[in-house]
Amino acid sequence: MDNKETSIVPKTMQGVYRTTKCFGAKNQNKYKGGFPSGFINWLKKMNWWGERRVYLCAGKVDDSESIRVDIKEECNPTHLEDARNTSLEDECADCVIIDPPYLKELSKELYGTEEYYHGINAFTKEAERICSPKGLIITLSYEIPKRIPNCDFIAVCGVYQIPAMSYMRCFTVSRKNDK
Ligand SMILES: C[S@@+](CC[C@H](N)C(=O)[O-])C[C@H]1O[C@@H](n2cnc3c(N)ncnc32)[C@H](O)[C@@H]1O
Repeated sequence: MDNKETSIVPKTMQGVYRTTKCFGAKNQNKYKGGFPSGFINWLKKMNWWGERRVYLCAGKVDDSESIRVDIKEECNPTHLEDARNTSLEDECADCVIIDPPYLKELSKELYGTEEYYHGINAFTKEAERICSPKGLIITLSYEIPKRIPNCDFIAVCGVYQIPAMSYMRCFTVSRKNDK
């Protein structure tokens, strides 16, 4: 990193991986708001992955070896619950992936879940509880979450699709500190 760049980057973000990432218009599944096709492979390639994966607001994500929490029965989740307050045990995951509805209007229009709408920080709080030390917490949303207690950002990226499917989304990866 050259000196010029270092001087305009806040100290807390220096050393944090930053980029924009483009995907095609196709999604992984036919579900509204599903991950772009190639998104999961990108996570694996970047090593933002874990053996014990939990998806909060899972939708119809195609990952049968994971724990999937969603409020809608039609998504066939392993846990039909509000992802803000789950029955999962403390530190049961080493990778928690959060992809909630991005706005209250969208939660109504796309999923009919407006009564369960929360901003990203409500979900990261629960993620921190269920994530084990050194584990990862990944968010995809229109919001950059507040720094999660006991965690540090390791990546903050803009994710978009071409042709454009929505506004650019904020993608973050945080690592939970060792005890
Ligand atoms: C953006 S979609 C997730 C799509 C998913 N990434 C995929 O690839 O299929 C958001 C999901 O969050 C769910 N949801 C909304 N509010 C929720 C809540 N409070 N707790 C759990 N699930 C919620 C919706 O039912 C919807 O399936």
